[in-house]
Formats: sequence, C-alpha cells, structure tokens
Amino acid sequence: MARHYAVMPGYFPTPLIRALRREALLRDARGEFQEAGIGRREDHQHDQRVRRDRTCWLNGSTLAQCRLQEELEQLRLAVNRELFLGLFDLEAHFAIYDPGAFYRRHLDAFRGNSGRVLSVVLYLNQNWNSDLGGRLRLWPKPHSRVVDTEVEPLGGTLVCFLSEHIPHEVLEAQAQRISIAGWFRCNNTTAERLDPPR
Ligand code: OGA
Ligand code: MN
Repeated sequence: MARHYAVMPGYFPTPLIRALRREALLRDARGEFQEAGIGRREDHQHDQRVRRDRTCWLNGSTLAQCRLQEELEQLRLAVNRELFLGLFDLEAHFAIYDPGAFYRRHLDAFRGNSGRVLSVVLYLNQNWNSDLGGRLRLWPKPHSRVVDTEVEPLGGTLVCFLSEHIPHEVLEAQAQRISIAGWFRCNNTTAERLDPPR
C-alpha cells in the first residue's frame, strides 16, 4: 500500500458474489434501501448533486454476509499485521447506483472524526463492461488533477484505500451498478466518548 490503495480483481469467489448480489436485489425489492446521505448523524444531508446511490446497511443476518465478514476479518488481521493500522471494527453497506447515478469526488473520512481508516469496496455486478461507465476514479495524488487510476466495477474485485488520503468518485453508471462499501475503523473510545455511541 505504498500508493495508499490496492485493486485486487477476482479477490472474492463467484458464488459468494452471486449470493450477495441476490441478497442486495431481494432487500431492494423489499424496499430496504434508502437514498444515501452525506455526513454523519446530525449533519446528515441528502444532496442529489453529490451522490445518487441508494444504500442498505449490512446486518450479519445471512450466511453470505457471515462469509464476507470472515473474509474481511482475515483482511483486517493481515493489514494490521503488515501495516500496523490498528483496524478495529467494520461498518458496511450495500449500494445500488441506478442508471444515471454517480458519486462526485469525495473523501470517506476527515481527520479525527469518523474513525474510518481503511475503505473497502467490492463489486457485485455480473456482466459489466466498459461501455456501462460507473468506474471508480481514484486520485492517489490528491493535488494533481491528472487521472491515473480508474477501476471497472467487475464482480469479485476488491478495492482498498486509506479513507483520509484518497479522494475518489464514482462516474455515472449507465446500468444498475451494485457494490458493497465498507470502512474499517480504529477504536476511538476514550473516557469521555464511546465510539460507536450507544
Ligand atoms: C462510497 C464510495 C465507491 C464505489 O460509497 O463512499 O466511494 O466504487 N464508493 O462504489
Ligand atoms: Mn467513498
């Protein structure tokens, strides 16, 4: 992670990706997805100019989610072992970008507020191709406007990046685009502040 990010095609087995996709579509059909917001809790806002995806939090209720959590737990342990990031827990949601949806350039964390350290995104799409847009664009050098990294949202690909350091955006998708975005957080608990709040 010298570049502060990694892209790993085919990281997850196809049956797991298929099961997670089915689950996302089922929960969407049940109306469990919500228009995504920006900011946390009291400053939470919906701004259609910034993002147009819909999201639904993972809750550990299915076998597929448990399998995914096991995989991500292995990743957490490996990253802590190799990179000493002190990753503590994970929050993650399904995200659906309907045709025309995007998420403008943003950071997933600002120093010291959310505890988010490492962002992970995995794609659940079945037959994606480059005509369908929806690429994830990363700016590993935040002050350079040169685009040098774009990732196709192919089913099974895992992308990781440092939440506070890598601005990124989701380009407009031309077909329904399904993913899971997650954030490994450090433990911010202090005497005055319990994180996460109860
Ligand atoms: C996010 C995000 C990227 C993607 O949800 O914060 O940046 O490729 N997602 O879906
Ligand atoms: Mn993001």
